[in-house]
Amino acid sequence: MDVKTKQPLLSDHVDMRPVAVDADEAISDRNAIVQLDPDHPGFRDREYRKRRNQIAQLAVNFQPGDQIPEAPYTAEEHQVWRTIWAALEPAHEQHACAEYLASLRRLSFDPDRIPQLREVNKKVQAISGFRLEPVAGLVQPRVFLENLANGVFLCTQYIRHHSTPLYTPEPDVVHEIVGHGVTLASERLAELNRLFGEAVKRTTAQDALDRLSRVYWFTIEFGALGEGESVKAYGTGLLSSAGEMEEMRGAELRPLDLEAASRQQYDPTHFQPVLFCAESFDGMYNKLREYLISW
Ligand SMILES: [Fe+2]
Repeated sequence: MDVKTKQPLLSDHVDMRPVAVDADEAISDRNAIVQLDPDHPGFRDREYRKRRNQIAQLAVNFQPGDQIPEAPYTAEEHQVWRTIWAALEPAHEQHACAEYLASLRRLSFDPDRIPQLREVNKKVQAISGFRLEPVAGLVQPRVFLENLANGVFLCTQYIRHHSTPLYTPEPDVVHEIVGHGVTLASERLAELNRLFGEAVKRTTAQDALDRLSRVYWFTIEFGALGEGESVKAYGTGLLSSAGEMEEMRGAELRPLDLEAASRQQYDPTHFQPVLFCAESFDGMYNKLREYLISW
C-alpha cells in the first residue's frame, strides 16, 4: 500500500501533540477525552474511538509510581503491529545506525504482538534508568521536554487505526516504542534526552524554548549520521517509519550545525526535505552533549 504520496506522514509530540491551554481542559469530559479530527482515519469507527477513550482513561487515572496499566489491544491491532514490523525490519537493516540496532536487539520485540509499556520499561530502565509513562495525548511541549530531565518519557499507548497501518497523523505507541523506547535503551542517547530536559528547565523565554525544540526535532527526532560510506538514521521519527527512512535518501543533507538547526523551520506533516547529518555517532554525541550542557 503506497500511502506516502497521498497522505502526510508521522507527526510528532513536540509540535503536533494536541495541546490543552488549561490543564483541566484535557479531562473535563471523561467520556470523550480523545477528540479525533474528522479527517482522522479512525473518526468513523465507533469501536476504535471507544477503545482510544479507554486507553486515554488509563493514562488519566495513572499516578507516577503506579504500575503501568495494560492497554487492551485487539487482534486487529496486533495485526497492524505485524504489518508495520514487516516493513520496518528491512528498512532498519538498511538505514538504522549501529547504536540503534544494538538497542533494538536488547529489547527483542515480538513481531506478532504490540508490547505493553510495562514490559518495555523493565528493559529500558535497567539500561538507562529511563521509564515510559502513559499520557492521554494532551501535554504541553514544555511538560513533555522537562520530564526528560527526570528520566521520564511521556508516552501515548494507543495504536493507529487499522485501515492505515503505515500511516498515522499523530504519534502512537509504534512511534513511541520503536522510536523513543529503543533509543532510550542506548545509554548515550538516553543521556542526550536527559540533557535536553535539563536545558529546557533552564529556559524561560519562549523563543529560546522554540529553538531548543527545533534542535530536538533535527537530532533526537530526525537526526542522520555518517557510518562508513553510508548515511544512517538515529532519529526516532525516521526509525519508526519505513516511509521516512526511504525518503531520507532524497532529503537535502546538511552538515550538523546546531545553531543552524535551532533556526531551521520545518513542517511536521510531510516528509522532511532537509536533514542535518553528523559525521559519525561520536561526532553527534559530543557536539550535542556540549551544546546542551552549555545551553
Ligand atoms: Fe517522537
